[in-house]
Amino acid sequence: MNKIFTVSAVVLLAAASSLALSADEPEHRHHPHMAGSAASAQSAGAMTDDRLLVQYPEMLRIHTLANMRDHLVTLGQIQEALSMGDFDQASTLAEQRLGMSSLEMHGAAEVAQYMPKGMQEAGTAMHRSASQFATVAKDASVTGDVKSALASLARLSQTCVACHAAYRLQ
Ligand code: HEC
Repeated sequence: MNKIFTVSAVVLLAAASSLALSADEPEHRHHPHMAGSAASAQSAGAMTDDRLLVQYPEMLRIHTLANMRDHLVTLGQIQEALSMGDFDQASTLAEQRLGMSSLEMHGAAEVAQYMPKGMQEAGTAMHRSASQFATVAKDASVTGDVKSALASLARLSQTCVACHAAYRLQ
């Protein structure tokens, strides 16, 4: 109960502060689809951190960050597989390590209770998008359509970026 109260308080505070901020800087925030260089130039110049702090129990925070690092490893392995034309391998990596099949491995049900709704949705979007990529990559193993696979991988990366732009754990 207490925790739920704390989390809602944090959400309310963040909502209030982002309202205040958006009054000052209407164009600046939450552009997950922005191209790389513009986005990084902008975040390098940012002096405030208006991401919402989400509080997890310590063990879960450590575990989540380890999962995150594994997500990044997986993206690299997917790119490597694509570069070698190994679409089946790219597909399997995405589905098993990031896709809907990975939910249990990541203890998604347990973690979800600590997440604000928007963060849960961002997580679901990521898992869905990984499973979509897995399908596109499977098709590419027959059609050789590299461009579609790369476009789908870019959409998957954007789901990582979107959540990172809005939430933090520390
Ligand atoms: C549902 C939200 C969400 C999604 C989706 C998500 N992340 Fe994260 N990720 C986080 C949060 C929150 C942090 C902690 C950031 C902080 O506290 O500054 C994080 C941190 C990380 C870190 C740093 C880990 C560390 O040791 O500090 C990496 C790397 C990372 N994420 C990679 C990814 C990749 C790659 C994807 C997509 C395949 C992804 N994440 C998708 C929420 C998410």
